[in-house]
Amino acid sequence: MKLNGHIFLIGFMGCGKSTNAAKLAEKTGARQMEMDEEIVKDQHMAVSKIFEVYGEPCFRDLETKLLKKLQDEPPMVVSCGGGLVLREENVRLMKKMGTIVLLTASPQTIYERVKNSTKRPILNGNMNLAYITELMEKRRSYYEQAADTVISTDDKTAEAICGEILEKGIWKQ
Ligand code: S3P
Repeated sequence: MKLNGHIFLIGFMGCGKSTNAAKLAEKTGARQMEMDEEIVKDQHMAVSKIFEVYGEPCFRDLETKLLKKLQDEPPMVVSCGGGLVLREENVRLMKKMGTIVLLTASPQTIYERVKNSTKRPILNGNMNLAYITELMEKRRSYYEQAADTVISTDDKTAEAICGEILEKGIWKQ
């Protein structure tokens, strides 16, 4: 399958962006990019360290800078950081470059998936269901407004989720 634009997987932390990006890349033959990983590689610093030393706005600037670079790249499957959609400019850039797929999951599912990780500065010190539920609610409209299509991931395998994404027929072949 030949994509003529990037596929952006967006959604809250733990919604399955990385896992499904890998599966989609496998299915489409496109390259996969993990935005967080790319930033870590470029900065030689963990995401939580960037937050700690330079602050969240600096991390958000790095996200926008990386997104702009994708304008010159061949189509790929991009696993976005959970906060990428908080900047309108980022959403505008993504819309220009391809299709935005929102992955969703219930707060309980998200909590189960992220609870043992310390890699997410936004959740460090707030690793509980109430906080996650509240933050998901605060961000909901950002995700929904950015999305071209929405896929629920609760109790589904990556194979099923990616099958659903591809069935949507939103890919320009
Ligand atoms: C963030 C999500 C993280 C990472 C950073 C901030 C957020 O990515 O970009 O910790 O604000 O939601 P994942 O969604 O891949 O965990």
